[in-house]
Amino acid sequence: MPRVDEAWTLGTFAGNGDPRSSREGVMDLGQLKRHWNAFGKTDPLWAIIALPDKKGNKWDMDEFFDRGEAEIGSVMAYARQLPVSFRSRRALDFGCGVGRLTQALTARFDELVGVDVAPSMIRLARRYNRHGRRCRYVVNGEDNLRLFPSDHFDFVYSNMVLQHMRPAYAKAYI
Ligand SMILES: C[S@@+](CC[C@H](N)C(=O)[O-])C[C@H]1O[C@@H](n2cnc3c(N)ncnc32)[C@H](O)[C@@H]1O
Repeated sequence: MPRVDEAWTLGTFAGNGDPRSSREGVMDLGQLKRHWNAFGKTDPLWAIIALPDKKGNKWDMDEFFDRGEAEIGSVMAYARQLPVSFRSRRALDFGCGVGRLTQALTARFDELVGVDVAPSMIRLARRYNRHGRRCRYVVNGEDNLRLFPSDHFDFVYSNMVLQHMRPAYAKAYI
């Protein structure tokens, strides 16, 4: 099991350096999944927001989730200023972790889906969920989001997920 300290080495995708090096050109997400899954079992909240004084499971849950509310509040205020409109029915939180942002999105959307590569994170997201069936959490170990039909979501949000991947990965999801 990797040490939690390794969280911030994820961007390098330790290995031979080629994220698409597995057979048939399929993205090898195994290592990524193992790393995040381990963090989900050891120090999940710190692995998500790595403030030095929160290391060792020292995050206060309310404080952690309050940050999610504040973030989504700002994002939605910004979105309102844009010359676009979208329905408020369904939203996707890609790389949802323990559901910090998924839950906050309930302020604006009826149904939320949080998707994550790590089963341990999804287990916690389900445990911490305060919105019943409005928030659904799904493990996705694929290098795409084809488990959802096209145009299924009115809004897709993702924070602190795609920057850990090389652009080729991110494009595959988008
Ligand atoms: C830094 S955490 C951010 C969690 C959440 N977005 C938040 O801000 O609270 C990154 C999350 O992205 C997930 N993740 C990383 N790569 C992923 C992928 N390819 N597909 C889905 N989830 C992924 C990790 O398992 C982890 O839970």
